[in-house]
Amino acid sequence: MIDCPALPVPAADLMKAAEDARRFSYMPYSHFAVGAALLGGSGRVYTGCNIESASFSPTNCAERTALFKAVSEGERDFAALAVTGGPAGKPGVFCAPCGVCRQMLSEFCTPEMPVILGAVGKLQVYTLGELLPLAFGPRDVLPHHT
Ligand code: THU
Repeated sequence: MIDCPALPVPAADLMKAAEDARRFSYMPYSHFAVGAALLGGSGRVYTGCNIESASFSPTNCAERTALFKAVSEGERDFAALAVTGGPAGKPGVFCAPCGVCRQMLSEFCTPEMPVILGAVGKLQVYTLGELLPLAFGPRDVLPHHT
């Protein structure tokens, strides 16, 4: 865990965006609602919620929804991610990104990027590198990748 660094958008505002996105969560199977907000290098905030599927495996987590929205709109570098989740209808609890999301985030985000977890007004901040140490990433496959 780290102290929250100064960000172009205050961590509490980014978490509010994640909480707002959580309201759109589609989770008829798990009843576990997650919201995420990803701050792009451009200053834009991309939000996402989890979207489940009746066949389960196509389910998309909130973090990847936000990331895919951002990348599909041309954003490829990121300053911070905020996440909150928990049982639907209840306030969010600390909910860290799943392994698949950590891997996908590491495709575009540096190990230093802050990942802010929120639970009823409280924040915990980790770096992506803390959440996914020794990540296998683009540089392993493309040594000259920038
Ligand atoms: N989920 C997320 O959206 N993000 C996470 O970091 C963990 C899990 C979703 C997937 C599924 O819809 C529900 O939460 C329960 O696993």
